Amino acid sequence: MFRLVPPAGTPLRSSQVLSALRDVATANGHGKKTLETFAAQLGARYAFGASSGRAALWTILRGLRRLRPQAGIVALPAYTCFSVAAAVVRAGLQVHLMDVIPETLDLDVCAADSLPEKSLLCAVTANLFGYANDVRPLREMARARNAFVVDDAAQALGAWREGKPAGMRGDVGLFSLGRGKAISTIEGGLIVTGSEEIAKAVREELALLRPASAFHGAWLLLQLLGYSALLRPELYRIPRAMPFLKIGVTEFDPGFSVNGLHPLSHSLFLSLVDQLEAINEIRRANSAWMREALEGHPKFCVPQPSANTRATMVRLPVIARDEDTRSFALKRLRVAGIEASAFYPSAICDIEGIGAHMTNPPVHRAGAEHIARTLFTLPVHPLVERKDMERIADVLYSV
Ligand SMILES: Cc1ncc(COP(=O)(O)O)c(C=O)c1O
Repeated sequence: MFRLVPPAGTPLRSSQVLSALRDVATANGHGKKTLETFAAQLGARYAFGASSGRAALWTILRGLRRLRPQAGIVALPAYTCFSVAAAVVRAGLQVHLMDVIPETLDLDVCAADSLPEKSLLCAVTANLFGYANDVRPLREMARARNAFVVDDAAQALGAWREGKPAGMRGDVGLFSLGRGKAISTIEGGLIVTGSEEIAKAVREELALLRPASAFHGAWLLLQLLGYSALLRPELYRIPRAMPFLKIGVTEFDPGFSVNGLHPLSHSLFLSLVDQLEAINEIRRANSAWMREALEGHPKFCVPQPSANTRATMVRLPVIARDEDTRSFALKRLRVAGIEASAFYPSAICDIEGIGAHMTNPPVHRAGAEHIARTLFTLPVHPLVERKDMERIADVLYSV
């Protein structure tokens, strides 16, 4: 079978890419739409762009360090994207890990108890798959230590919890526009905050960055056009077979580049953001269908977002009974033309070489390590058809 359903994605038309390119070339904005109007819709006073989510986080960390130069520790979820840990390391800070609760994907803040006073710079959320984390315990823990909360909503653009948008439940938040996110412009990151002092520190950091090269702009355009043409089940095996695209690869690389948000990504984001809600609604409906289909399954369970949340569901996470069951399910799904993903290869504590950057190595976080061994994600994006979801359910019931 040549058809292969991509694990995540947001449909993009080449006309949208070309229209964004035209806007950049003619310095034409999107009417009155700017990053600030996007921020205002979220309730943020300030918004900034960076070249990626990790560049956004790095900039935030450098900015916060200007405000608390004596604090050098960042509390991170022990199961999150490797580039979160890479941003901390690149900023010259130390990692302190909080465990993740497999049933809800919320964070266990107890780990912070052991930290020396005044050493914590900030605590970072994860909001993985667009499940908006419960940030209250994190905020209380951070406030008691005069530290900041960074609401990492890289995967959660459009998610809410208790009436507050993800990204806006800390002192400063970030979104990613990378591949597989709620809206993708291939690369890009956004920073939002309501705090004037944080905005000032972030602005000063951003002012030090160099713009990306013209060559990079051409490569970005090529990738956007390729993405718009090939992100469909009938053609997805083509980009999947190109190793230089690093599709599905998670690396720990503190040497990542940091630039401002490319004008093409900026312009495209502003033109796509109006579709966000409709696209997330499809993801939520597909997730609800899949969750119901897997209800009561003896070998797989879907972590439950809390009742007062609205998740974005950039992917649907499923926890298998054990590692072998997961491997078997992934293989069977691939044969059936479904690209499910084992997601991050390990918990943050098990990344090779991370020990030198941790407050207390060697450390194990049981919840995060269990998730890393057993979690996989199912596609629920708008390109997934009902027949695909029925096939997924059939495969998982035959495992
Ligand atoms: C939770 C989380 N934070 C940060 C990032 C970094 O975003 P980017 O890939 O745009 O650098 C990611 C990327 O996948 C992520 O999932």
